[in-house]
Amino acid sequence: MTDTAPPTSATAPFITLEGGEGTGKSTQIARLAARLSAAGIGVVATREPGGTPFAEQARLLALDRATAPQSALAQALLFNAARAEHIDRVIRPQRAAGTWVLCDRFSDSTRAYQGAAGGVDAAILSQLDHIVTGGCRPDLTILLDLDPHVGMMRANQRRTSASPGTFIAADTFESRHLDFHQRLRLDFLAIAKAEPHRVQVVDAFQNELMIADQIWQHVCERFAALVPAANH
Ligand code: TYD
Repeated sequence: MTDTAPPTSATAPFITLEGGEGTGKSTQIARLAARLSAAGIGVVATREPGGTPFAEQARLLALDRATAPQSALAQALLFNAARAEHIDRVIRPQRAAGTWVLCDRFSDSTRAYQGAAGGVDAAILSQLDHIVTGGCRPDLTILLDLDPHVGMMRANQRRTSASPGTFIAADTFESRHLDFHQRLRLDFLAIAKAEPHRVQVVDAFQNELMIADQIWQHVCERFAALVPAANH
């Protein structure tokens, strides 16, 4: 799809949130879902890897450092297998039924994590993505951009406060060095620069409510005809 192409079908919008570790994607997905519901719009929030029983198992395998594939290519294949199921069983049917789909991470994460930061050839990832996603591409992607120093600190705090007094080890990707996370950030920003019509960058260092408002503005602008005017 070219950057200037309109949504490819009459199905309901597909919005993804992307960004590095600790950027607050899940919080913002929940806020956006609540806001859409309040506007009378049917919406489901899902995540990658995940969203189906197989994909949730793939998530466990990928995030546990004891079972995660060592090679970035094997990781890319695993994430794409999970994505194929997720598209078939959740994303396409929900959109076809008129339900908006919000997804925490999608293809851009594979490109950034396994490609730019992991070293898998971009052409291979692009071919795989083409096979797996077919025409199912996000209409809008919100990139939550944050200095990885801050993001990693937040991710550490999240793990500590999730079970006080218990040690929760960093997962496969959280445990990577800072330069991995710096490469990720640059690649996400490069994707946004290459596809400015699809990808909107939001500064994730701001407070949660300001971020939510900015995301809402992007959604209202992009889908002006679908969001009741009273809610803009
Ligand atoms: P998650 O807990 O969702 O991370 P976060 O809370 O930061 O969003 O775990 C998903 C992890 O999987 C995250 O570290 C990024 C990684 N990932 C990839 O490496 N490639 C992919 O294609 C996807 C979807 C995720």
